[in-house]
Amino acid sequence: MKRIGMLTSGGDCQALNATMRGVVKGLTNLYKKDVEIYGFLQGYRGLMRDEYKLLKSEDFSGILTKGGTILGSSRQPFKQMGIPTEDGIDKVPAMIDTYKKHKLDCLVVLGGNGSQKTANLLSENGLNVIGLPKTIDNDLWGTDMTFGFQSAVDIATEAIDCIHTTASSHNRIFIVEVMGHKVGWITLHAGIAGGADIILLPEIPYDIKKVCDALDKRTEQGKGFSILAVAEGAISKEVAKLPKKERKKIIAERKYPSVAYEIAEQIRDYSGKEVRVTVPGHTQRGGSPDPFDRVLSSRFGAYAAELIKKQEYGQLVVLKGSEVTSIPLSESAGKLKYVSPDDDIVHDARLLGISFGD
Ligand code: F6P
Repeated sequence: MKRIGMLTSGGDCQALNATMRGVVKGLTNLYKKDVEIYGFLQGYRGLMRDEYKLLKSEDFSGILTKGGTILGSSRQPFKQMGIPTEDGIDKVPAMIDTYKKHKLDCLVVLGGNGSQKTANLLSENGLNVIGLPKTIDNDLWGTDMTFGFQSAVDIATEAIDCIHTTASSHNRIFIVEVMGHKVGWITLHAGIAGGADIILLPEIPYDIKKVCDALDKRTEQGKGFSILAVAEGAISKEVAKLPKKERKKIIAERKYPSVAYEIAEQIRDYSGKEVRVTVPGHTQRGGSPDPFDRVLSSRFGAYAAELIKKQEYGQLVVLKGSEVTSIPLSESAGKLKYVSPDDDIVHDARLLGISFGD
């Protein structure tokens, strides 16, 4: 009998269930049904507190298209792993105890950057761990794509598409704020897919004057409306120059609900033009995974099952080109995959006439 622990950690996304289904289907076929799944509830929280559901392969049927996670999730920041919980649980030793208590053969962690850092820590502490690359942000280092990303791009693109028709009817400037505090992958892809005129990313600080110049250029070309795709973490050149502490303070004390509203006011002040803001927010993490994510996550899950069968632990399943493979968890831990201003996709977007406000 194989005893596998599984958990979904951090912000949810669309293909978590599809990935778990892939793992369990793969294991069931490889071990001829001889598998017991300990599904820890609310991510690492469940592992710390020994809160789990004992699941059978049947429990993973019919969830390919279901959004969210049947196990629930929570954020348990890596930075706070050394700090006991409010009721005094010593987090890392408690997780190791739970693993040992149930005599698990492996722990499968579906998570993004911070969660995989914790997965690596558990692996360094002697547990058999396999990581699966989750996040709509696509910022996990070592994989060309995370599951959830493409579905989020679809939703953000649809938001921009809808804005397009109303923006052109009313000759207005619209800002669509897209998820991504530290990285701009969703904004970049949805911006190009939705035909945005200006794309503002955390990795390419903007100058509001340049943004307004790009808007003026549109007007000169006889275009009555403009659309900006702005990442949640878009940052101006002046603020980006400041030391980290000051930068964080300015952002925390901002009088606007988010950056899109601040940019909207700056554009209004500068050009006197009417600007509207749309924030699709958490809809970008909701609903069913798209077909691309269903395929990707099913392949990731099947690959994880094979790693378990081969007892190759301490690995993060990744996509390289069109190949699903794995890298050591330690190789990815602590690194983010940013958009580089030198990336081909940024170069191509510029050629298409998209302004990055820089
Ligand atoms: O990590 C995914 C993500 O959706 C980010 O894009 C976004 O900035 C953040 O989570 C939102 O976090 P929360 O769900 O905690 O509000």
